[in-house]
Amino acid sequence: MTQNSEYAIEVTNLTKSYKDFPAVDDISFTVRKGEVFALLGPNGAGKTTTVEIINTIRKPTSGKVTLLGMDVTKKKYKIIPRIGVLPQGFSSFDRITVKETLQYYSRLFRNKNTDINGLIELVNLKDKVKEQYKNLSGGLQQRLGIAVALVNDPEVVFLDEPTTGLDPRARREVWKVLLDLKEKGKTIFLTTHYMEEAELLADTVAIIAKGKIKTMGSPGELIENNANYMVAMLKSVDENVFEIVRKMGLSPAYDSRGHINVRLTHTDDVRKMLNTIKKSGASFSGIDVRKPNLEEVFLKLTDETFQEGSIGIT
Ligand SMILES: Nc1ncnc2c1ncn2[C@@H]1O[C@H](COP(=O)(O)OP(=O)(O)O)[C@@H](O)[C@H]1O
Ligand SMILES: [Mg+2]
Repeated sequence: MTQNSEYAIEVTNLTKSYKDFPAVDDISFTVRKGEVFALLGPNGAGKTTTVEIINTIRKPTSGKVTLLGMDVTKKKYKIIPRIGVLPQGFSSFDRITVKETLQYYSRLFRNKNTDINGLIELVNLKDKVKEQYKNLSGGLQQRLGIAVALVNDPEVVFLDEPTTGLDPRARREVWKVLLDLKEKGKTIFLTTHYMEEAELLADTVAIIAKGKIKTMGSPGELIENNANYMVAMLKSVDENVFEIVRKMGLSPAYDSRGHINVRLTHTDDVRKMLNTIKKSGASFSGIDVRKPNLEEVFLKLTDETFQEGSIGIT
């Protein structure tokens, strides 16, 4: 491995145990320079542990991790000036303004050349420069956190759950900042438990659960490789349709709009289901048959049930 490798990050057989518990269990992957890589997984999957080993905060139990060609356990002080980190649950000094916060972190990095105004513009906080941290909404605080992670103009940026806890609008505004950052060609390592976030932002997604990587690829590949079933959506259904479908041995689920989603393996099952409903005299206004989305693939791979409300929400 050389400094000129096409990879920004190489993780080989990484394991991290807390006492006897393997929080990260023999995972391997690479992150190409300039890509957005998302580690997608439910709470407790091992995302933060993985990120914090790569960005030199925690020590691995075993395995090898290199960042920009350097072993993370040996070159910490060479690595730190070249990376930026937005930790999970970022917080800053309550009474310090947006601009002062960036000036402070910039000095911490002894970085004389930080383009503070450029950063403020990038994260869209121009009209908040004089606002104290404590008066910013959650979304604005996270955007400031992203700017903080960029004060040293890092080559690789780590963002650990940057939008958790934000309302949908604030989340979209953070996404916009991240898309702009992606445009600039930064290597971004993102963790998230929001599938739409991974689907929207990432070039490569690795799905992690219980310390293991279940699958990895572009969002399109993950859907293609794991979509060995279809989702049929029955619209404006009679009350008894749910029961009829369930009695056929299928697993119907209502979505937030009151449609019924049914997972089917064969095209023939669509015809069978429609015939059975028709024979029973029940009615519905239409049917859509489609491939699963990343959320459904995620739920399948992380062993969560195909439950009510779990699909159709975007
Ligand atoms: N410092 C620690 N000591 C003991 N257990 C930990 C520690 N950090 C994390 N864990 C455990 O390791 C597992 C993975 O945690 P974490 O990496 O924080 O997951 P995620 O970020 O995906 O939610 C969890 O079961 C968590 O409780
Ligand atoms: Mg975490």
